[in-house]
Amino acid sequence: MDAVNIGIIGLGNVGMGALSILEENRAQITEKLGFPLNVRRVCSRSVDSLALPASALRTADWRDVIADPHIDIVAELIGGCTVAREIVDAAIAARKSVVTANKELMALCGAEIWDRAISARINIAMEASVAGGMPIHAVLREGISGDRIQTLYGILNGTCNFILTEIERRGESFDAVLEEAQQAGYAEADPSADIDGRDACSKLAILSALAFGERIVPDDIYTEGIRRITPVDFDYAHQLHHTIRLIAAARHTAAGLILSVRPSLIPQSTILAGVRGAYNAVWVLGKYGADTFYYGRGAGSLPTGVAVVSDLMRVAREIRSGSPERVSPFAHARLGEYKPIPIALNASAYYLRFRVIDRPGIIAQLAAALAAENISIDSVLQLPQANWRDLPFVITVEPTTEQSVRAAIARMAELNFLIEPPLAMPMEKSL
Ligand SMILES: NC(=O)c1ccc[n+]([C@@H]2O[C@H](COP(=O)([O-])OP(=O)(O)OC[C@H]3O[C@@H](n4cnc5c(N)ncnc54)[C@H](OP(=O)(O)O)[C@@H]3O)[C@@H](O)[C@H]2O)c1
Repeated sequence: MDAVNIGIIGLGNVGMGALSILEENRAQITEKLGFPLNVRRVCSRSVDSLALPASALRTADWRDVIADPHIDIVAELIGGCTVAREIVDAAIAARKSVVTANKELMALCGAEIWDRAISARINIAMEASVAGGMPIHAVLREGISGDRIQTLYGILNGTCNFILTEIERRGESFDAVLEEAQQAGYAEADPSADIDGRDACSKLAILSALAFGERIVPDDIYTEGIRRITPVDFDYAHQLHHTIRLIAAARHTAAGLILSVRPSLIPQSTILAGVRGAYNAVWVLGKYGADTFYYGRGAGSLPTGVAVVSDLMRVAREIRSGSPERVSPFAHARLGEYKPIPIALNASAYYLRFRVIDRPGIIAQLAAALAAENISIDSVLQLPQANWRDLPFVITVEPTTEQSVRAAIARMAELNFLIEPPLAMPMEKSL
């Protein structure tokens, strides 16, 4: 059978990873498909400075890739929402299928892109956009598509997980671990998209659209980062037989589908607590199939390259089989409209960590603020500390709503012994 021709735009970490797999694993890919995948053109603005396979035509202008009538599939691997958007739009207009690793673009306007892809009768594939080294899209789209998903919890940002588990393991401060992570290449020079939760938020928008069939965008998701987590939070969490991870959560509740990305306490006994370093994981609870768990590398040139190449193979098979019916990348033929449910309606036990200037009567005043919002205290923890001018201690409260916790914290704003506003984290009991 004739080769399927590919154009790769973007030759950075992911593009070069995909390219090297396509070269090195060429024979086995051909064996699996029954026809070869041919990299016909490659593109980046600095293409001439790169060591690339001699057989591929090079260009610094992505339009050359789209204009090439022999190219069947365009891999958009540059990232961002500006030029990448133009590339995807142009590819659809030229009736070429698209493989992308772009979480930002697909979270923001993936559903709209898919609508146009259906009309053009081409395919869009985006496995590499979430948890690069783990085929979670394939699982939600096909593997467990017969189930009805109730809850999805993920550790979706490798940088945050690396930082948190290093603070936990070594007791170093957030700033010190972040600096090390930057030096080791685990964190970007500007780490804000990772540590403020925005990267995980885009990924949760995509996964929850697949899991729940609704058009979900990042603004629909309550997002909080990990900057405030200290070694002492791990000490207290351990006392409670919990640990702390940045949890991306989507769950059906009486109020509706609640979506959040935030640092949370999770029981040490849960499988997610064992996810350490730059790894990612997703735990899914289905109505019929009960729970399943997926684990793998969140990023990296080759793990993400595998996801891109596997998408290229799937799309190439569909092209060769001539099927006009594509499996939607969102696992649903059409996505419904999501009505965001405010995080204030979330109900959970909470961990409240205070930093105070020690003096008599503190607990009584905090307890009064909680009681005024009908919140019951579950435990009060205070590890021995030398510094009475900055004393961290913890109150855990029985399940209540986020709204009540926020109202209690607002009451506490008046208390002049607080060094900073309390840190509130949900305690996930249902994992
Ligand atoms: N890195 C990972 O592990 C990972 C994991 C999962 C998903 N992703 C996603 O994969 C995508 C690519 O990430 P990456 O880490 O590979 O990025 P990267 O290393 O920065 O590579 C981007 C590439 O795009 C090229 N490029 C940028 N603008 C261009 C333009 N206008 N025309 C042609 N080429 C252009 C750049 O080269 P020039 O500057 O020479 O043009 C470079 O080769 C992003 O959407 C990212 O979110 C990455």
